[in-house]
Amino acid sequence: MFTHEDLATMQAQSLKMQGWIRRQTFSPEHEKSLRRFSSWEVSELIFKINQSTFRGRLAAEPDLPSGEVEEDGRQRWFSLTEINELRRRMKINRSSLLPQRPAGKRAIRVAISNFKGGAGKSTVALHMAHAAALDGYRVLCVDFDPQATLTHSMGLFQVSEDLTVWGIMARDLIHETDRMNAAPRAAASGTSVPQRRLPSGVRDLGLEALRNTDFIRPTAWPTIDMVPSCANAAFVEFASAQYRHLNPDWSFFAAVSRWLDALPDDAYDVIIFDCPPAIGYQSMNAVFAADVLYIPSGPGYWEYDSTTSFIGQLAEALGDLAGGFGGGFPAGKMRLPKAFLDIRFLLTRYEPGNDLHRAMLEAFRKVFGERVTEHPIEMTRAVEQSGRFLSSVYEIDYRNMTRETWRRARSTFDRAYDEFKDCFLRAWDQVE
Ligand SMILES: Nc1ncnc2c1ncn2[C@@H]1O[C@H](COP(=O)(O)OP(=O)(O)O)[C@@H](O)[C@H]1O
Ligand SMILES: [Mg+2]
Repeated sequence: MFTHEDLATMQAQSLKMQGWIRRQTFSPEHEKSLRRFSSWEVSELIFKINQSTFRGRLAAEPDLPSGEVEEDGRQRWFSLTEINELRRRMKINRSSLLPQRPAGKRAIRVAISNFKGGAGKSTVALHMAHAAALDGYRVLCVDFDPQATLTHSMGLFQVSEDLTVWGIMARDLIHETDRMNAAPRAAASGTSVPQRRLPSGVRDLGLEALRNTDFIRPTAWPTIDMVPSCANAAFVEFASAQYRHLNPDWSFFAAVSRWLDALPDDAYDVIIFDCPPAIGYQSMNAVFAADVLYIPSGPGYWEYDSTTSFIGQLAEALGDLAGGFGGGFPAGKMRLPKAFLDIRFLLTRYEPGNDLHRAMLEAFRKVFGERVTEHPIEMTRAVEQSGRFLSSVYEIDYRNMTRETWRRARSTFDRAYDEFKDCFLRAWDQVE
């Protein structure tokens, strides 16, 4: 017979070997770094200007960053930091290259969410983050999924569970419980409300001492930061249920939203949430903090089925919150019932030549109308092939594959990003 103690022993053995196994399969030169971008990419694909205009400007203004020339090449290659400096300093036909951002507003938040594993959530989150960063935006990604696909894709591996969404939630429970205990209680009515107690195990984690920014890690992309996740954060679902029991008034679903509200408004432009394939404490936090809900789905019948089931259960869960926590319960700056500024369905791994896929796209359009994005993301070998990290097509050097494969992959994600941007810009205008 095996009990929890046997499981604990097995885990201890495994942990002992973990370092060794990691060294066997992972070497430091595999640390993720961001490549440079050629003057062709910078002018035509990033700034969307003529390559000769770009070259002319660089020649005329020698103190602009001029990139590096590779030994046997003619092209100049620019780092993202240089590209961003060019954005700030160059004007083309008197118009700025800086990305559009409504003045004085906090960052816009988009949750990429659906039920099914493999729907393409992490791939969409990764590509939208990279495309937004290349477009000049400062991006924060929050990984709500203990599978940590997005975290690993961003090159982050050594993550302690305290510094994940889990830590943000547990710290919020402590703050909220203290706030409730300190609040002037029904003194007028003379009834005394019992103090809510948290077990020392929660307080001993040392989370109270953490600053808001301690949860944020830099990535290989200079303008993308991340709240990472790790497999150990999976127990959050179980622990949250217990914690909720300790303080039933804790608005557990608003923890991340409260944490984001406490960041300076201009710290980021776009905040992207990668969600777990489930409706639980973590995904409810993502959904509740989001202004926009982006729902990727594969183009098959079962995916249609599971997307339908996802929105049904989400509706129910959000309805329960609105009922159970109603009456102006303090949930940060967000209100109940939760209202999204926009909702979009995005088909992924789409093959235009596949009859079933075309039929499913039509079906999605019939049912969800304008909520379905115009351009699905096509199936591409460029994403399938990428090696030990999930790398985006933006990270892959186009010289490593046929130019045609790379361009097709890039253009399908570019079109998806253009719509994504259009969607978040409209929503951003409505953010209070
Ligand atoms: N457009 C695409 N073309 C080819 N492969 C894709 C595409 N989108 C996703 N994939 C692949 O499908 C798998 C699942 O995608 P992922 O984004 O991790 O899904 P999820 O986050 O919803 O579980 C990954 O192996 C990914 O490389
Ligand atoms: Mg994922």
